[in-house]
Amino acid sequence: MSGHEFDPGPISEPFATLVREYPGTEVYPAKHFRVEWGPIFHRGRLDGTARVLIMGQDPGQHESIAKRCLVGEAGQRVQGFLSKLGITRSYIAVNAFLYSVFGQNSGEQHADDEKIAEYRNRWLDALLLDSPIDAVISFGHLADGALDQWRNTQPARAAEILFKALTHPTMPEAAGKDDPVKVASAMKTMLHQYNAALQELDGKLGERDEQRELVLYGDTITQADRATIPEADLPLGAPSWWSAPLPWAARVGKTVDEKRATVVVTVPESLRPWE
Ligand code: URA
Repeated sequence: MSGHEFDPGPISEPFATLVREYPGTEVYPAKHFRVEWGPIFHRGRLDGTARVLIMGQDPGQHESIAKRCLVGEAGQRVQGFLSKLGITRSYIAVNAFLYSVFGQNSGEQHADDEKIAEYRNRWLDALLLDSPIDAVISFGHLADGALDQWRNTQPARAAEILFKALTHPTMPEAAGKDDPVKVASAMKTMLHQYNAALQELDGKLGERDEQRELVLYGDTITQADRATIPEADLPLGAPSWWSAPLPWAARVGKTVDEKRATVVVTVPESLRPWE
């Protein structure tokens, strides 16, 4: 394909109807979700060509701007994971929550909400029933819990799919806070888990987008373990630096309210075409 690729979004059924019928504050209370930034539905293939489904948890500031799931640091790590398996195009990613979680434990508090599960299960039905997806990988316990709720509603189809529940890719930093020793240890444990999953998936996944030797993680994540977000996953006209394995959006503010209301978007220095 020549020229720039882009994702036109959920323009075909059943996704076109699903995105028109998304829930708002009646299901996602503004006290616990950043509903003001709008819903974020997916990233990847909605045309029936996905072979792997990724379930993340909740979008952050990069996702709020790009309007696609998993494009920031967590997304680049997930993309790197898929890339190790030669899955560079045939995937679809969704999150357990449509909106970014606000406040500590808000995700846990709403993990079992029936209305949230109802809408999410409509997406999962659309993606997983009558589809070639044979592996579903969840990143984070809320993501796995969301899949559990779907599995209970579709046990027959669920029994045909390989489910892998993995640690959320930015958990080491979140859990270790400012303690580098704790972060390093959590990272090592997580990557050990990822390696076991990669070996299992590599043995079981069928056709890949690219044939490659499986290269496992070391004790820490390196730049080579991240992958850029494909242009084909982003909306029309997305700047090239939205794909880059560098941060470009930050919540900024002196007060909680100001920070909630403000996302500063900055072209990364190394990617400024005028410099
Ligand atoms: N983490 C997730 O689980 N999902 C996103 O979309 C972004 C970060």
